[in-house]
Amino acid sequence: MRKISKLGVLTSGGDAPGMNPCIRSVVRTAIYNGLQVVGIRRGYQGLIEDDMYDMNTRSVSNILDLGGTILKTARCLPFRTDEGMETAYQNLKKHEIDAIVVIGGDGTFTGALRFSQKYPDIAVLGVPGTIDNDLYGSTYTLGFDTATNTVIEAIDKIRDTADAHDRLFFIEVMGRDSGAIALRAGISCGAEAILLPEKETAIENLIENLKGGQYNKKSSSIVIVAEGDKHGGAYDIAKIVQKEVKFYDVKVTILGHLQRGGSPSAFDRILGSRLGYAAVNALIAGKSQMMVGLEANHIKITSLEEALNQHDFKLEEDLLQMAEILSI
Ligand code: F6P
Repeated sequence: MRKISKLGVLTSGGDAPGMNPCIRSVVRTAIYNGLQVVGIRRGYQGLIEDDMYDMNTRSVSNILDLGGTILKTARCLPFRTDEGMETAYQNLKKHEIDAIVVIGGDGTFTGALRFSQKYPDIAVLGVPGTIDNDLYGSTYTLGFDTATNTVIEAIDKIRDTADAHDRLFFIEVMGRDSGAIALRAGISCGAEAILLPEKETAIENLIENLKGGQYNKKSSSIVIVAEGDKHGGAYDIAKIVQKEVKFYDVKVTILGHLQRGGSPSAFDRILGSRLGYAAVNALIAGKSQMMVGLEANHIKITSLEEALNQHDFKLEEDLLQMAEILSI
């Protein structure tokens, strides 16, 4: 069985609340098991630039409540090249690191899989950390719960002012390819419509529904648009709708990167702790090229290949239909 003695940990891609609790868990679980731990700064960029430091149990003190990631993160293009990967490998060898935990989303896992296929002597374990909640093999990804709560808090405030002015708001939330935040926030805030990248909405239907809302004497309407919607962003859709729905004063809010910040929720702190702990234990058990996830409240281990290839999971039609019915 593969035996590891020195572990590297990194966060990569878009940051997500819960990454810090996960780093804490990785570091302390590894040290508890007699492993040395190295923190790699700015994801794969730190691997290529040899930007790493030794970590101890105190390196991760008082970080459970912090948003962002103490290791920093980046989207690293050079890691996609053979030269970049070779440099990263040589740096790992130089530091005698024999395993890495990578915390990130699909882009991070694509890099991790390619790297570990090229250099199988370095064990690689993935932890799903992205607010997009779009990886197969874990019902929830780190940061999704906190981000959704942040979005809900913002939309509740917008609802107050929308109601006071009898206005129609188009609110754009994150999710280039994923409507997960949009759908959950839409249900939680009673949105009149939810536009998702996974399903094309006919604009004519949206207009008819909004007109219906007016006839049902609604004093405000909220349409949530996931940024990856096929019709474009919230501004584009608002423009089309405003031409037809003249009785509403239309406003647009783009929530943007505030969705990625903030102190992680209890759910994300516990999820980060559980996944970090499970990732290190999986490495100690000799596993590599895997991702740890949570399904039905149990740790599940999925191959990175499967996590990425089944990425196109199904839209939760039942939730969308319920949201539509509940907003009449
Ligand atoms: O992957 C997480 C995410 O927040 C997406 O929802 C969003 O489309 C993207 O990152 C934005 O990336 P960046 O911060 O690099 O602009």
